[in-house]
Amino acid sequence: MANGKGQQKSVRAMFTSRFAAVATTVGSAVGLGNIWRFPYEAGVHGGGAFMLCYLFFVFVIGMPVLCAEFSIGRASRANAFGAFDKLSPGTPWRMSGLIGITASVLILSFYAVVAGWTLEYCVEALCGNLDFTDRTAGHETFRSLTGGTHALVWTVIFLAVNSFVVLRGVNKGIERLCNVLMPVLFVILVTFCIRSFFLPKFGEGMHFLFDPDFSKITPDVMLNAMGQAFFSLSLGVGSMLTYSSYFSDSTNLARTALSTALLDTLVAILAGVMIFPAVFSFGLSPEQGPALVFEVLPYVFNQMPLGALWAFIFFVLLFVASLTSTVSMSEISIAYFNEERHISRRKATLISSAITLVGGILCALSFGVLADFTICGKTFFNLFDFMSSNILLPIGAMLYSIYAGWVMKRKYLTRQFSDSVGHLSWFLPLLVFFMRWVCPVAIFIIFLNTIGLI
Ligand code: TRP
Repeated sequence: MANGKGQQKSVRAMFTSRFAAVATTVGSAVGLGNIWRFPYEAGVHGGGAFMLCYLFFVFVIGMPVLCAEFSIGRASRANAFGAFDKLSPGTPWRMSGLIGITASVLILSFYAVVAGWTLEYCVEALCGNLDFTDRTAGHETFRSLTGGTHALVWTVIFLAVNSFVVLRGVNKGIERLCNVLMPVLFVILVTFCIRSFFLPKFGEGMHFLFDPDFSKITPDVMLNAMGQAFFSLSLGVGSMLTYSSYFSDSTNLARTALSTALLDTLVAILAGVMIFPAVFSFGLSPEQGPALVFEVLPYVFNQMPLGALWAFIFFVLLFVASLTSTVSMSEISIAYFNEERHISRRKATLISSAITLVGGILCALSFGVLADFTICGKTFFNLFDFMSSNILLPIGAMLYSIYAGWVMKRKYLTRQFSDSVGHLSWFLPLLVFFMRWVCPVAIFIIFLNTIGLI
């Protein structure tokens, strides 16, 4: 009864078109991860070197894991927990679903805070309060807007909007939202990139982003690039697994995985093209961390005619991108409560929103009264981000890949990729090889390195 009111239990929601399947998965993938996180991670970790590692992880490791999640989701047509119960009853694999559900709550908690900032910045732009004329003003504005209690209020408002969409169900809420907003997002982003082309230091920005300095490729850069690739593709927690359980049988999984990875990477690159020329043109440092888009871009808009309007459009874009991603995070736990615990979609939404609200409040206050409250040297915000992106996502991704490659019955896998297997006889053996060996081994090595064992 994933679609809400009055339906029979056996009727599960399904996306109504192929476009919707791509729009929703790209909607999940494209988000703050691309437009906010990618530029600042690339800025901190050496630009081109980071970009190179990122591309490697998206296409060589991320794509097979995405195919693994897709095949588990559609073969089972169940939520992240129930999928393993259906495909391998009575085994501990269902626990990997629980890891995903926990991780999705952690991610949503800190993500909602940043999404709340985007809403706050939309309003400030409209009121004409973002007309920074120098760098310090950008910094001060960011601090005052995110540090006080209003950031908390905006986090709560964002979570309320998110709950409203998921409450409307898979088709009327999520699908409709993504079908309309994803194309709009692309148009706005391309407009900003054209603008960036005319900035004086366009060349320098491009050089920073695309010209790798190989000496900067360190294990730490690799780990962060892997975390970013997984985060950006929404891998490892069951978002893609849950969405693919709503795909129709005629959706080509390999092609959808490729379109998702390509479009997601394209948006991250466009975000980089939009921001780095501006950073250099205005003499700023690319290494500012999470504040990068919030401090730099309003300053850029201020130099443009109708600056306040551009700023408003940009932050609306960021808000839209966040919303199409957060609905995919919420859907993981809602589908779980709804299908496994037999709770109505409405109650499931309430429960999952209440849990994230607590996490969201802790993360929002990390920039205010809880700024000095740290666990292992990290505020709640940083801790939730680190735990999910660098620990739980890689573990989840590794488990999904091992499951699809080694444990899931081969006939299920073959059936899920039958449309690709027909024309491309090499496809399935190659995919299985990556799922069995390449992805788990690569993830494991980098993971051991993170926790300091190698
Ligand atoms: N991929 C999204 C982004 O780039 C965020 C996201 C949505 C996500 N669902 C997820 C991240 C599941 C990790 C896991 O902004």
